[in-house]
Amino acid sequence: MFNLNEADRKFTEEMWSKIDNKMKAVVPRTVGKIPSKSENGKFDNMVEKDITWWTNGFWPGMMWLLYVGTKNDIYKNAAEIAEEQLDAAFSEYDLLHHDVGFMWNISSGVNYRLFGGKKSKVRTSIAADILASRYNASGKFIRAWNEDKVGWVIIDCMMNIPILYWASREYNDPRFKYIAMNHADTVMKTHIRPDGSVNHIVNLDTVTGEPIESFGGQGYCDGSSWSRGQAWAIYGYVLSYIHTGKQEYLDTAKSVAHYFISCVCGDWLPRADFRCPDEPVIYDSTAGACAACGMLEIARCVGEHEKKLYLNAALNILKAMEKEFCCWDDTVDSILGMGTGAYHESPQERHTPIIYGDYFFIEAIYKLKGFDMLFW
Ligand code: GLY
Repeated sequence: MFNLNEADRKFTEEMWSKIDNKMKAVVPRTVGKIPSKSENGKFDNMVEKDITWWTNGFWPGMMWLLYVGTKNDIYKNAAEIAEEQLDAAFSEYDLLHHDVGFMWNISSGVNYRLFGGKKSKVRTSIAADILASRYNASGKFIRAWNEDKVGWVIIDCMMNIPILYWASREYNDPRFKYIAMNHADTVMKTHIRPDGSVNHIVNLDTVTGEPIESFGGQGYCDGSSWSRGQAWAIYGYVLSYIHTGKQEYLDTAKSVAHYFISCVCGDWLPRADFRCPDEPVIYDSTAGACAACGMLEIARCVGEHEKKLYLNAALNILKAMEKEFCCWDDTVDSILGMGTGAYHESPQERHTPIIYGDYFFIEAIYKLKGFDMLFW
């Protein structure tokens, strides 16, 4: 539970009730879809477009956040329907990749942790097995993608590995945890820079695990700092700390958070990359929402004298984004606008609502409300 002042408590209560009111209107017309983006105020449907798409866990995850926070069965029902629809992705095995953690940990994983159902346990276990099978035991890393990218490791995977910590506990089998920790240890050396900024993609030697080359990936260029990648590192490392107690993971999360805060503390609205030309200004709200969740978890982990920095930064980001980017009109499906998938995508594709922006915005408010079931 956070010790919020009167104004921050009011903000949190107002946000939670706006989210619930809006979603009570959006959910009945969305059940049966798994949204990824929205266009002209209407969600798309990845059940038709691509059931293996990496973001397909966020809609059921959002439904579970709302269910835990309200106990309203419309959210439970929507989450369970999406979880069943996701089963079709297992039949497309060769299209799956490391993002099985994103896809199943917050969908079937949360369902299982809430209700203990066997089907949900099996789905989450298969996802954990697939992720573990991508581990390179010589290089000590989890490969991200398929085809010829055998040594490509991306910072995003820090958000996938919590499903391995779950499997380790569930099956009382430390192998899953060793894989997750070895991966996290490698990435601390290969992706996190001394100043707290983070590489998106590094190609590692498949035998030694030594870096061969790095790429800018979804950021501006090699050596720049893609803001959502910084957010994946903040939240990913504090989650690894929570699951293992290893101090270096918390220190890493704090170091990247300090860097992130230094890059946004002007207007608290995150650009898509923190090291890019001043113009054009390209925002990525999803980076802010995910970083805020990570900062709130850091605030829970540090001592009393340190908490304020992370709590206030998270609140400043959420408040600024709410003012500039949120839409509370319940005829519009999405909440948080101004998400950007990648710095170099076309101007028409930038600055749109993306499902994980809504997911992390809601998760941040859920945390501020004091709900303490950890979804990752
Ligand atoms: N995991 C891919 C992305 O953050 O866009």
